[in-house]
Parts: sequence; structure tokens; C-alpha cells
Amino acid sequence: MKVGIIGQGYVGLTISSFAAQHFEVIGFDSNEKIVEQLNLGVSHIEGVKSSILKKFVGSGQFKATSRGKDIEDCEVIVIAVPTPLTADRLPDLSFIESACKTIGENVSREVLVINESTSYPGTLRKFIKPAIEKYSSQSLEHLYAISPERVDPGRNDFNQNNTPRLYSGLSPEATTRTRAFYSTFCDNLVEVSSPEVAEAAKLFENTFRQVNIALVNELAQIAHSIGLNVYEILDAASTKPYGFMKFSPSAGVGGHCIPVDPTYLALVAEEHGAPATFIRLANKVNLDMSEYIVNRIVADHGGNLSGKDVLIVGVAYKPNVADVRETAAQLVIHHLRNYGANVRWHDEIVGEWRGEYSASLSGAEITIVVTKHDSVDEKKILESAPYVFDTTGKISSKFSL
Ligand SMILES: NC(=O)c1ccc[n+]([C@@H]2O[C@H](COP(=O)([O-])OP(=O)(O)OC[C@H]3O[C@@H](n4cnc5c(N)ncnc54)[C@H](O)[C@@H]3O)[C@@H](O)[C@H]2O)c1
Repeated sequence: MKVGIIGQGYVGLTISSFAAQHFEVIGFDSNEKIVEQLNLGVSHIEGVKSSILKKFVGSGQFKATSRGKDIEDCEVIVIAVPTPLTADRLPDLSFIESACKTIGENVSREVLVINESTSYPGTLRKFIKPAIEKYSSQSLEHLYAISPERVDPGRNDFNQNNTPRLYSGLSPEATTRTRAFYSTFCDNLVEVSSPEVAEAAKLFENTFRQVNIALVNELAQIAHSIGLNVYEILDAASTKPYGFMKFSPSAGVGGHCIPVDPTYLALVAEEHGAPATFIRLANKVNLDMSEYIVNRIVADHGGNLSGKDVLIVGVAYKPNVADVRETAAQLVIHHLRNYGANVRWHDEIVGEWRGEYSASLSGAEITIVVTKHDSVDEKKILESAPYVFDTTGKISSKFSL
């Protein structure tokens, strides 16, 4: 069977690498540079090894392309493109629309279309299906299903095989065929009664994380204000064997999912006259953490950071990945520069970011640890400045959240 996967980023390339064990996979991406690299067997995603990609490219099990015609005879097409927010913080479905255009204009047979991109309930039924039909010159009765992606890049214990996968089709046949497709590489498939349930569940999973992270970020501020250590409180609370789940404080939430997906849910809520109080508040608390941290550091330095040489350790949004989307480091740097500090950053996994390059891990007056990759030596961090402020809970510094 030939499978087309639209979007070859974190989600799409991961799915390609599992699907290629069983099917011929066409990885379609609009970015020609990515396509060129993938066809040379070079992966740009943590968790997909270049050696494995090279093997699939060599055997013909995987081919990347930017040519719409190459998906024409696929039997299954998976959509895995970005779903960000617009500048006005509204759902931006333009990437999905363009994926639908590629499918509509090129597919010449009836196929199973599965959406893995995260979006609000109703996207499959009310947006994807009509969009593909709009762009198609033939009247083809495609099957449509959803299976929201749960991949956590950089994680080794859970992968496509052992992470339970939700799925549901717009018709019983779509549901059955979706199950058959994923059962080739996923051991735990969970059918739900409608695509809308799966879409809403995905949004709620990330909203749950966003709200709990905000709560623990408030706890960090409360703990500091009364002279207690937040990590000690969390370790103590974690001894309760039921009804408690530990989240860790941080400089804020980053990535393509947690700062974005809950807003999709909030907008649906507000559109239907339902409250989204927690979501809106959690977003604010998490965004404000960067300013809170910088204010703590300013207070420790007599109210003045002007001309201070400040080093940020880790600008990726989480450990061991190069992903800087929505990273909290950006806001921390913004506030520090507003105070007149000279800011540089060290992150060899990211390397280059916004026209700046990873600086050496030494010689600063103030170091702030925003993200701690496993490969960065704690001793070196502590030696990089006389004042080291840790926001990660991973460094034994006198100054921390
Ligand atoms: N990254 C994660 O950890 C994660 C986890 C679960 C769900 N998701 C969701 O999965 C979706 C994809 O996220 P991602 O992290 O893989 O994004 P990504 O930015 O890593 O990759 C998206 C890829 O799609 C390509 N693309 C964009 N528009 C295209 C188009 N019209 N046609 C073909 N290719 C196109 C881009 O060039 C890019 O390579 C999003 O909805 C996201 O919310 C992401």
C-alpha cells in the first residue's frame, strides 16, 4: 500500500518512519530544503535517526517530495501540518487548507484521509472534508478520519508503538480502515464515538498540562514569598499515592502545543458562550513567569542590570531538542534587554537562533538556566558566573525558583 504523509516535521516524519516499516511512504513537504535532505537520508527531527531514514530511502520504502502529483495514487493520506495561531491569536488553519488543496488537486482515486494535526472539534467534518471537495476537480467519495498525534519529541520511553492512539472516522468504513492502518505499528488503539471527541480530547490533554503548569508556577511564587523551597513542597506532596500529579515550575511553557492548543479550546468555548476562565488565566500566568524571574534577578542585583553580562543556558523550549518555537527563553531575554543587560545564550543543540549563535559557557556575571539539556555539564554551568539562577530544578544553585 502507498501512503502519503503531508508535512514532514516532528509529527509527519515520525509517522513516516513507522509507516515505512510496512508501506511505501511518500513524504510530501512544501519545504524543498527539507525534502532534499530527507532524500539524502538526513533527518532533521530528534527521535528519527538518519541511519533508519537512509535505510528506507535506499530500499525505496520512503521518498520525500514537493510535487503534488507524487501523492496521486496513494491509498491513505495523513495530514501533519502546523496549526498555529494568527497574529490576532486566532486558529490559523491556512496550512491545513493548503494541505487539502494538495490532496484535492492531485489525488485521483478514493482514499482514506486521516488528520493528525491538532485543531478544534469539527475541523475534520466542517473544514477538511469541504476543503478537499472544493479543490477536487473530480467527484470522489473519500473516507475521512482523525487520529490526533501524541508524540513527545526527545522522549524514549513512549513512541508510536506503545502510546495509546485515539481515532474515529466520519463513517464506519473510515473508522475500520483507520484502525487497520495504525494497527500495523501501534499496539493500543482507542476508538471514540466521533471525530469531534478525539479532537476535543487532544485539546484537553494539552490544556490540562497548561493549567497545571500555571498552578505550579504560582506555587513557586507563593513558596518564595514565604521563604519555602517549592521543590521540597512538591516532593512532599508527591508522596501522596493518589489524587496528586507532580508538575514542575519553569520560566514558562513553550513548543508548538501547550502555549497554542488551549487557545483553540478557549475560542470554541467562547464562541459557544461557555467559560474558558482557567485557560485564559493559565496562559497569562505562564507568560508572566519570565518577567517574574527577571524581577527576582533584578532585586538580587540592587535593582539594576544595566550593562551586566548575562548568559542564558538553554534556549530550546525543552531539554534535548533543538525546537525553539514559543520558547520561554525569548521572553526572558526580552525582559533582560529591557533592563539594559548584555545578553548572550549558550545552547549547542540549537546552535543558531534569530541571527545569533550559541556563546561559550563561561565568563558571565549572571547565568540563568532556562533549559537544561542532558549534555550540558552542571559543574560548568555553576562555574560560568558568580551568580547562577536556576529555573529548571536540575542545578544545585543557591538561587532558584
Ligand atoms: N511537535 C509535537 O510534539 C506535536 C505533538 C502532537 C501534535 N502536534 C501537532 O501536529 C501538527 C504538526 O506539528 P509538527 O510539530 O510536526 O510541525 P512542524 O513544523 O515540525 O512540521 C510541519 C511540516 O509541515 C510542512 N508544511 C507546512 N505546510 C505544508 C503544506 N501545506 N504542505 C506540505 N507541507 C507543509 C512544513 O514545511 C514542516 O516541515 C500540528 O498540528 C501540531 O500541533 C505536534
